[in-house]
Amino acid sequence: MKQFLSADDVTNINTLIAKAKAFKQDPFGKRSGERKMVINLFFNSSLRTRMSTEKAARQLGADVITYDASGGWGIEFEDGTVMNGNTAEHVREAAGVLSQYCDVLCVRSFPSLEDRVADYEDRIIKSFVKYASVPVVSLESATLHPLQSLTDCLTIAEHRPVPRPKVVLTWAPHPRRLPQCVSNSFVQWMQAWGEVELTIANPPGFNLAPAFAPKEIVTHDQRAAFADADFVYAKNWSAYDNYGATTNEYDDWIVDEEKMALTNNAYFMHCLPVRRGVVVTDGVISGERSLVLQQANNRTWAAQAVLDSLL
Ligand code: CP
Repeated sequence: MKQFLSADDVTNINTLIAKAKAFKQDPFGKRSGERKMVINLFFNSSLRTRMSTEKAARQLGADVITYDASGGWGIEFEDGTVMNGNTAEHVREAAGVLSQYCDVLCVRSFPSLEDRVADYEDRIIKSFVKYASVPVVSLESATLHPLQSLTDCLTIAEHRPVPRPKVVLTWAPHPRRLPQCVSNSFVQWMQAWGEVELTIANPPGFNLAPAFAPKEIVTHDQRAAFADADFVYAKNWSAYDNYGATTNEYDDWIVDEEKMALTNNAYFMHCLPVRRGVVVTDGVISGERSLVLQQANNRTWAAQAVLDSLL
């Protein structure tokens, strides 16, 4: 593996899951990071990704520097710009400099949710890949969140009641407009993995990008989707078609006990952070079938498997 930006960078997802499981059994069993440096560059907030990636690097014996890029020099991503505005440093120099300080460069960025074309070009992460001379790991980009998705594969693999479980990705309400990255990525990884029956439930107007979500697996009937589900993965995303739009018209899409009762005693999953009482009821997220803390724990092992593969 030369970089970790999406499922396309992984030859065999089961091999990576097995590696993550091995690190979970023995966190300090392989010291591939000794005398190595990992840099984490964050353009926006994080709790889980930051902590789990730092922990994973340290358990491999690596040193870690985490930098809040949103509070640093403004970075320019356009080529040929006369930089007489707010940006102080071009990504060509920033990526070149950081490559001299580390062995793996991890980057988190978010979409603008204003300009779909620009967001889906994923310019920030792709610019770092272009100009860095070390492997780049996506800690979430404008369109994908591969470390979260690898974690979700691991969590489903650990808990599936049957070899090929039914997994439902359901849109859920939210007061703010959120990126589509986690959901795009979840669908991409579930399909690449090929070991689940995936259904996507979302209200009309909230279909994900066709490149990620084929129409055949999308329904606008949340209750019908929940029937016989083994896993329910809740996530809000803003609209792809009317790009960045959100709504309060579908607040009844909250995941509650009544809908979970339609399932095959499904596990509840969410990447966190989550708004209780909006996305999911307290009873479901605090219930015995909730896997949200196990998912957050598995972020470490997924990150450790990826960093080890690149180091
Ligand atoms: N799930 C996730 O990526 O969490 P953070 O935004 O806190 O890193």
